[in-house]
Amino acid sequence: MSPLRPLLLALALAWPLCPAPCAQGACPASADLKNSDGTRTCAKLYDKSDPYYENCCGGAELSLEPGADLPYLPSNWANTASSLVVAPRCELTVWSLQSKAGKTRKFSAGTYPRLEEHRRGILGNWSNAISALYCRCS
Ligand SMILES: *[C@@H]1O[C@H](CO)[C@@H](O)[C@H](O)[C@H]1NC(C)=O
Repeated sequence: MSPLRPLLLALALAWPLCPAPCAQGACPASADLKNSDGTRTCAKLYDKSDPYYENCCGGAELSLEPGADLPYLPSNWANTASSLVVAPRCELTVWSLQSKAGKTRKFSAGTYPRLEEHRRGILGNWSNAISALYCRCS
């Protein structure tokens, strides 16, 4: 067997694990963000992120309906979200402190597998830092 074969095999095995929009990993695409019953979702938060994109959007998920206005997140979700996805024509505004205080940021429609990569102030990032939110759709 040529020494090249194991390499080719490894590439062939790795390829399907990394489909086109690779950076979104296991996260749904914005356009696929629907509840199982077909009703509209404004955004979804996910508990788990990961250095490996294919493992992002894991763990518990919190589905937000259009107009969801949560100055206080359910206690098990405060400072917990590590990945999020915002539906088309929707926008999610988040705050770092409850009652919509502290730092704020808007996430437009799209997939954000690693909130760690989104800067919060000079030193922080948005992973495990969302304490209040407002989600609206046009
Ligand atoms: C994000 O913030 C957390 C907590 O402050 C920190 O432990 C982590 O290293 C930061 N990650 C990046 C990529 O800056």
